[in-house]
Parts: sequence; structure tokens; C-alpha cells
Amino acid sequence: MGIESSCDDTAVSVMKKGKVLANIIASQKIHESWGGVVPELASRAHQANILPTIKRALEMAGVDLKSIDGIAFTQGPGLAGSLLVGMNVAKGLGIGLGIPLLGINHIQAHIAALFIENDNIELPCLVLLVSGGHTNLILINKDYSCDIVGRTIDDAAGEAFDKGAKILGLAYPGGPLIDKFAATGDKNFHSFPISKVPGLDYSFSGIKTSLLYYLKKQEKGFIERHLNDICASYQKGIMDSLFQKLTKANMQYEPKSIAIAGGVSANSTLRERIVEFGSNQNIKSYIPSFQFCTDNAAMIAAAGAMVFDLKEYTPLESNLYTKWK
Ligand code: KG4
Ligand code: ZN
Repeated sequence: MGIESSCDDTAVSVMKKGKVLANIIASQKIHESWGGVVPELASRAHQANILPTIKRALEMAGVDLKSIDGIAFTQGPGLAGSLLVGMNVAKGLGIGLGIPLLGINHIQAHIAALFIENDNIELPCLVLLVSGGHTNLILINKDYSCDIVGRTIDDAAGEAFDKGAKILGLAYPGGPLIDKFAATGDKNFHSFPISKVPGLDYSFSGIKTSLLYYLKKQEKGFIERHLNDICASYQKGIMDSLFQKLTKANMQYEPKSIAIAGGVSANSTLRERIVEFGSNQNIKSYIPSFQFCTDNAAMIAAAGAMVFDLKEYTPLESNLYTKWK
């Protein structure tokens, strides 16, 4: 069983021999009106949702709680108050059922999600991991060890989507909305700047400021009249930044394949462009199904299964962690 509660989704999954039997997500709508996740509200909602979500997942999987072999849970990084709910329920189940606990790194789980649908990923694989909290270029080596070769120095790509959407008066999370409006907009309507951070690192704090100043100069009603064009141009700015460094990393490391992971990998333009990039470079590209892009517990269960096989169990007294392990 996998339990994910790092942010605002309470998710539970049951997997058996690599097959996902249930992947349930209880999303918290409460944050929409606040324009972002409110940690205290998230923690309380997890508390209310977690046991019913476990019950639903077991029902969907057609599995009895007593037949669970191990409990994987997100140990970090994430919001402490949210993580604590998932971790303590996992500990309770672990002790009650007498089965191993498997503390999982959320970022590594987003990568593990790629292996749910492809167990023969060509390695080394260069992964563009883009979520609301992280933007990393990660190399999965032939021995499955991972190296972070690039990272954001400020905002994550998902944050750039969400903050940009907020400036445009759109609800949280703004990524899917920008994606939707951009579909019928002109991506060349306005040119947003690409960051000039050296090496393989990213910066996304400038693009939202640039959007803010650009809109301040416009007359009343401009956003309403040109929402689709602004979204398309803004999205293109984020994508161009992502692909500038991906291209550079690809030249530097010459991977056998490339992949995307994390919530922003649900973006339709990103999905198109990564396939195009792979075929231009003559390497394989991997894209997770939508249910495995944004936060989900199947990815925690998948990572848990790998750790379970290695017998790397998490002790009961183990605490949350916030850094890459
Ligand atoms: O992986 P995730 O669910 O949570 C974190 O670990 O952060 O990612 C959430 C992020 C949010 O910023 C959301 O706006 C973004 O993924 N996102 C998208 C799309 N769907 C989700 N961004 C752009 N286009 C989308 N279609
Ligand atoms: Zn995530």
C-alpha cells in the first residue's frame, strides 16, 4: 500500500506484483479560493480524508487490509503538517499489522512512476522532473542510481504556472487552466524572457515578474480580450526555458532516453515537445499517463515495492525528512 500526503492531495494506492489495483486521490478543493495551498487547512483535510481514502482503495482493489505486505508513505519533502498525517497513519498500520514501513522520497517517487508503465526504460535516462515544488534535471544511471544535474535556483516550473495564473486572475492550481486557454492562443503574441542562469540550472522567478509588469502597462480589459494569447505566450516562455537546459544536458550526458515526470508533465505542450525532441535526437521518450503525473500514491507504492525488495525498511522511530536522500 502506498500513502501520499505531502501537499494537498490525500492519495492511497494498492499495488500487487507491479500492477496498480487501486489509485485513489481525495483532492482538497478548499485551497482554490485562497489562491494557493494553506498548510494548516491541508493538514486538517488529510486528517479527515485519510482513513476513508484507505477504505476506498482497499475496496477498489478487492483486497483485505490483512493481506497488505508493506506500507509505503511519503516521508518528505513536503508540508510537515501534511506529511505527519500520512506518516503516522502508516506507522499505526505498520505496527498494527506487523508489516514493514517504507519511507519514500516524493521526488524519487515521481521518477518511480515512470517505471509503473515501462519496466524496460533505456538507461541512462535524462528526466525532466517538473512539479509545483521542484524543477530538476535528473540522470537515472544504468545501475538505477540517480544524479541531480540541474535544479531551479528559485521558483519551480509549476509555481511559475500557478503564480502567473494568479496574476491573470485564474484559480489555483493555474497550470491546467493556462494549458487549457493556451490551446487556442497565439504563442507568439508576446515574447517572455528566458532566464540566463548558467549551467544546467533553472530560474522561473523572472518570468512571472515580467508578466506582472507587462500587464501593468496595458489598458483595462486587456486580459479578458487576450487571455488565450497571453497564456500561450507565457506557457511558451516556460517551455523554452525548460527545453534550453534539457537540450544542453542532453548534449552533455548523451542519455539513451529522455522522460518527463511530476505534475507539469500533464501539460499538453510539454508532452508534445518531449516526443518531438526525442524523435529529433533519435532517442526514446517516456511520458507518464495523466494519473501518474500529478501527485498520486501509485508512485509511492511503486517506489515502496523497490525498497521492499531491497529490505530497506524504515524504523518506527524514523522522522520526516525534507532533503533529497
Ligand atoms: O507533482 P504535483 O502534483 O505536486 C507537487 O509535487 O508539487 O505538481 C503540481 C503542479 C502544479 O503547479 C500544477 O499547476 C502543475 O503541476 N500542473 C500543470 C498541469 N497540470 C498540473 N502545469 C501545467 N500544465 C498542466 N496541464
Ligand atoms: Zn509531486
